[in-house]
Amino acid sequence: MVGTEGEKAVDIRRLRVDTGYVAYDQGYGDTASCESAITYLDGDNGILRCRGYPIEQLAQHSNFIETAYLVIYGELPNAARRKDFGMLLRQNAAIETQMQRIFEGFPKDAPPMAMLSSIFASLAAYYPHLATNDFAKDLASFDMAAAMAISKVRTIGAMLYRYQSGLPYVFPKQDLPFCENFLHMMFSEPYKEYVAVPEVSRALNLLLLLHADHEQNCSTSTVRMVGSSAANLFTSISAGICALSGPLHGGANSAVVQMLQAIHDDGDDGSRFIQAAKSGNKSNRLMGFGHAVYKNFDPRAKIIGKACDDLLKKLGVNDPLLDIAKRLDETALKDDYFISRKLYPNVDFYSGIIMRALGIPVSLFTVVFAIGRTPGWIANWHEVASTPKGRIYRPRQIYIGPKRREYVQMAERP
Ligand code: SDX
Repeated sequence: MVGTEGEKAVDIRRLRVDTGYVAYDQGYGDTASCESAITYLDGDNGILRCRGYPIEQLAQHSNFIETAYLVIYGELPNAARRKDFGMLLRQNAAIETQMQRIFEGFPKDAPPMAMLSSIFASLAAYYPHLATNDFAKDLASFDMAAAMAISKVRTIGAMLYRYQSGLPYVFPKQDLPFCENFLHMMFSEPYKEYVAVPEVSRALNLLLLLHADHEQNCSTSTVRMVGSSAANLFTSISAGICALSGPLHGGANSAVVQMLQAIHDDGDDGSRFIQAAKSGNKSNRLMGFGHAVYKNFDPRAKIIGKACDDLLKKLGVNDPLLDIAKRLDETALKDDYFISRKLYPNVDFYSGIIMRALGIPVSLFTVVFAIGRTPGWIANWHEVASTPKGRIYRPRQIYIGPKRREYVQMAERP
């Protein structure tokens, strides 16, 4: 098989039937699980395109909601479609009053991503007509389900912050654009509405846009896996949120800031940490560095790194963690350990510093990542749901357990 950009694959769909062999590829690093038309990555050349559009051009000219539409529907929207899409998002920004009771069921210090995945999954209970677990019916109501997913994951994210901070909920305003509404729901007070300065809403827009989709990463593949069982969109995305929470994946953005803070608190200029990171011990890794696909630079990291500088300058913020991050970046990129392993800053290395400057707490960084990635999860679920004769994902294994043996009664066991 040959893809649009000339990438080649050996079609092994009959391998076991014809040869008795299965292929082994731990972590699927060299296995294509699907054909997809959404995002193209070239890890060696640092290329990322959404529906053919280079991420650099989308970052410069587009915004999160327009890019979300592109990722989901495959084309940039014209003015009428963009207006309709925005209206659907605004009309579906609020959550059901009864859903608020789910928040109260969690301890105040519950992991935010655990709350987000559980509360998001409950959308299937509140909107069963959009979550029938029948591909044809769920595809027929896809536009509404997609708009709800994008709009409500954002509202749930803001509400879980308010709940965990012991603050009253701030409900969405229909006249606010997507990002401004999120910041309003996060930071407005009963008698003082938070109004985002343009630099802040632009930075959040860019951050969400850059996270919109990223090919078959761990969480997106999880959404496809779950969706392949004919599970509805909300349930499948809830599984993706769980996968994203891991520190090797979406949890890295908060791990980066915690790492930078620890280096700062230790009075380390980063050199001691870099030495520890070279030990190969997974718990000492330089978080925000390395990538399963990018073996050159992550184009998103370049864009975020520059946006970080611009935003902090405009806000007059002098964040010592940014200085440490830049030192780590410069040092690691000259160190043979990182160069030989092709470890470069990824999307998470600077994103946390931007979120700090926006006033978003570290505990919410991965929630913001999930809000940004929801359009990509939606588009991938749609590809699975609409693939004619699509198969349920069911990988094989290499069994390495015991051979057949007979049952031993309790009295005879050692
Ligand atoms: C995201 O897939 C995606 O697209 C994900 C994502 C998306 O948009 O969805 O881009 C978002 O998840 C970005 C990655 C965020 N994670 C981190 O920043 C965590 C730190 N990075 C690593 O854990 C690691 O680089 C991974 C998980 C990102 C990639 O792991 P790989 O490709 O499986 O690499 P590996 O674990 O096999 O490591 C290869 C070598 C090892 O050394 P040796 O055994 O060869 O001696 O590189 C070393 C590793 O020890 N290594 C690191 C390192 N990452 C890899 N050493 C120090 N610091 C690191 N960060």
